[in-house]
Amino acid sequence: MRPPPSIARVRRYYDRTVTHEKQRLDENVYRRLERDMTLRLIEQHTPRGAKLLDVGGGPGAYLEPLTRLGYQAWLCDLSAANVRRARERARALGLQPLTERIRQANATDLRAYRSGTFGGALVAGPFYHLLERSAQEQALAEIVRVVQPGGVLVCNVLPRLHPLRYLVREASAQSWRCLTRVDTDALLDSGTYRNPLTDPLFFTDAYFWRIEEFCALLRSAGCQVLDVASAESFCAFADDSLAAWVNSEARYRRLFALVEQTARDPGLIGAAEHILVVASTPSGKKGVRKA
Ligand SMILES: C[S@@+](CC[C@H](N)C(=O)[O-])C[C@H]1O[C@@H](n2cnc3c(N)ncnc32)[C@H](O)[C@@H]1O
Repeated sequence: MRPPPSIARVRRYYDRTVTHEKQRLDENVYRRLERDMTLRLIEQHTPRGAKLLDVGGGPGAYLEPLTRLGYQAWLCDLSAANVRRARERARALGLQPLTERIRQANATDLRAYRSGTFGGALVAGPFYHLLERSAQEQALAEIVRVVQPGGVLVCNVLPRLHPLRYLVREASAQSWRCLTRVDTDALLDSGTYRNPLTDPLFFTDAYFWRIEEFCALLRSAGCQVLDVASAESFCAFADDSLAAWVNSEARYRRLFALVEQTARDPGLIGAAEHILVVASTPSGKKGVRKA
């Protein structure tokens, strides 16, 4: 039997794992690093008050911090279960109009939004899972379209070595089974991963980027790359050790300062768990001739 189209598998995976995703960025010190680096980049590159679309925003972990920082947070996601959770959060925050603010949508088709609606976009999800180049280009074109010229994209992508490091961190019988069944040559060569296990909860089909390749994709859409950082820097994949070690707010603050200081080190980018890439959308001035 032919496997279902990849996007349907991805949607099903996130519909089933919504509870885990809801807790993901709150659950521990390690996840907090990813969230805080993302917010720091948004603050550095996007003016307060801007209207931001969180594309692939899942259950809405960024709605509260973005609102607290003074942004107007909007969200769309592929998964209906995640959209329901995000609406619960948005309702609690008093965000209006609720159904427009939080929508179900595939990043490749953002027709629900008019061109130039947003000052920027956070894209932490779609580029993990769009496997074909045409779909990656289409999603980027749609995101660029709905953001105003000269707006800001903060994208989160998974690096090429992520799956191998992930399997080692899991170090379970299941992850070993996965390692023996995955075509690692193809994975390392093409970045494309298809879940070889029947367990539907094991990580779904995904795309793992070389950073040069993702920056080239952005440039091909007319965007200018402004910043590249590892979300967790030297702490990448160290969840368990950090949980016990960083046992106070003061320790967290010290660690985060070091993470921020080192996050752009080129030696850490390919070894990251999540790479954050900030880009500006085309200014719209290109091609305008003087009279
Ligand atoms: C790992 S979760 C991250 C959620 C959230 N951005 C965060 O960082 O907490 C990835 C999210 O991307 C969504 N997603 C994946 N592919 C997508 C697509 N093509 N269009 C819209 N959302 C997508 C999934 O449904 C899921 O909610």
